[in-house]
Amino acid sequence: MMVISHRGASGYAPENTLPAFEKALAMGSRAFEFDVQRSKDGKLLVHHDYDFLRTAGINKKVAELSYSEIERINAAKHFKNGPEAKAPLLSEVLSLINDRADFINVEIKNDGNIYPGIEEEILKELENHSGAAGKTVISSFYFPSLERIRAISSSARLAYLGHKLAAVLIAPAAVKAKRINCENFHLSRKISFSVNLKIIMSLGFKVCVYTVNERKEAEKLKDIGVHGIFSNYPDIMEKN
Ligand code: G3P
Ligand code: CA
Repeated sequence: MMVISHRGASGYAPENTLPAFEKALAMGSRAFEFDVQRSKDGKLLVHHDYDFLRTAGINKKVAELSYSEIERINAAKHFKNGPEAKAPLLSEVLSLINDRADFINVEIKNDGNIYPGIEEEILKELENHSGAAGKTVISSFYFPSLERIRAISSSARLAYLGHKLAAVLIAPAAVKAKRINCENFHLSRKISFSVNLKIIMSLGFKVCVYTVNERKEAEKLKDIGVHGIFSNYPDIMEKN
């Protein structure tokens, strides 16, 4: 079972910052997840929330700031005793991890299509890093972003990302996911009961569960046969 460093090694260093990806690499991680958005002046960057309130104590939206303003914000403020760190550019994260990554999950944050055209820009940035596109699976809670990726590229690798997916909605979600040829299906641990996971796996999807931070739960998912888990702790399988 693959352990995917969720927002980098975000249990040990501030999420979605270069120190979090450096820490994950130092721990031997070869699989990474992070969230991509766009600044007002069109730079692709890595940050989870649509604003900087939780991470930096600044009530400003990513979309309304230029990247020169964003890079002056300490997006690691929420992480106690951590280093100061900015929200990095997508290009910086890819430059750091690409050579040592086996698997990358780019999650597009684009609810309500607040970043029109971001899908094509992400595909272009992946092309700037040799071999990155082939090991990157793109996901989004905003399904139209995945549809756009598929319309642009028949070879892009896609993951359906289930948000608050009730068990009864799994079958319709799987139909949508098949329609655009998703190879992965990423599911919240909150509904990752054995029966749900087995249904999705039986439909031919590689299932990855988020966010799993307890070893016991990770072991259980491994026994069920999931393909991967997203964890803030890359060493989760060795933790007591
Ligand atoms: O991609 C899996 C997981 O990261 C989705 O949830 O809110 O942590 O981005 P979230
Ligand atoms: Ca994410």
